[in-house]
Amino acid sequence: MRKGIILAGGTGSRLFPVTLGVSKQLLPVYDKPMIYYSLSVLLMSDIRQILLISTPDDIASYERLLGDGSAYGIEMQYAVQAEPKGLAEAFIIGADFVGSNPSTLILGDNIFYGAGLIQLCMTAAQQPDGATVFGYHVLDPERYGVVEFDEETELVKSIEEKPKLPKSDWAVTGLYYYDEQVVDIAHSISPSARGELEITDINAAYLERQQLRVQKLGRGFAWFDTGTHDSLQDAAAFVRTIETRQDIKICCPEEIAFDNGYITADQVLRRANELGAGTYSDYLRRLVEGIAR
Ligand code: DAU
Repeated sequence: MRKGIILAGGTGSRLFPVTLGVSKQLLPVYDKPMIYYSLSVLLMSDIRQILLISTPDDIASYERLLGDGSAYGIEMQYAVQAEPKGLAEAFIIGADFVGSNPSTLILGDNIFYGAGLIQLCMTAAQQPDGATVFGYHVLDPERYGVVEFDEETELVKSIEEKPKLPKSDWAVTGLYYYDEQVVDIAHSISPSARGELEITDINAAYLERQQLRVQKLGRGFAWFDTGTHDSLQDAAAFVRTIETRQDIKICCPEEIAFDNGYITADQVLRRANELGAGTYSDYLRRLVEGIAR
């Protein structure tokens, strides 16, 4: 069974002083905590066993928010990353949790939206071997992992972390689907010049084995990482625009769980009652009545 990891640590230093008192991935993105967006993507991939990794200071807040996962019909576990030593460390911390299963890592500050996203996630989750990552065309590739494609064959030629001179404009997003090799690969890589275990080095190892697939997310998709005040505002404005215009919610984990049959209508209503009065709980009630479909 595929396992999911949400990485929600780090210092959030680019958002100081906002993140001095609260974990970045708990900040609101319009009407819900940031972490709901990455949790939702895992649910869309039909992943029901999830490990959330955060800092020693913040882990209790995530446990308070997400509990044992039963509100979404899933199993949540929690682990601590003592220091932000790199994204690839998630597979060292999570080695026992992952065991010999395939796994998916998502960064708690990444937001994905688009028609067909569920299908892409399911396809990536169902690959029997290798790795699948997602490419997104951006203006500022030097801020990200960058993937280069062969112009004729479209095969991946190289992958580099924050290159000064990017070989393409395709950034690698913070959503990674791996087969069961990933834990061993994570143990085999060394810290980079900036002292971190780089997820890009894991992806490069898959590329070397000719087992790296890069799925491009084209025009119909939105991808935000919410690392700066501006990108956080942009993401919130995007969510608000879609939600108010279409009278739906983006990345409501209870809705996805209900659609997937993980929780019943009664459980959705109980959850709504726990949340009391408010637009989010109203939405849950309307889901059960079928109005928001
Ligand atoms: O967002 C996609 C990008 O994420 C990829 O294109 C890059 O290849 C990948 O390295 C990563 O780049 P970032 O510069 O965004 O990584 P950052 O150090 O900002 O960490 C991303 C998130 O993960 C952030 O919310 C903090 C959290 N984090 C980070 C590190 C290094 C942890 O929880 N633990 C860590 O050790």
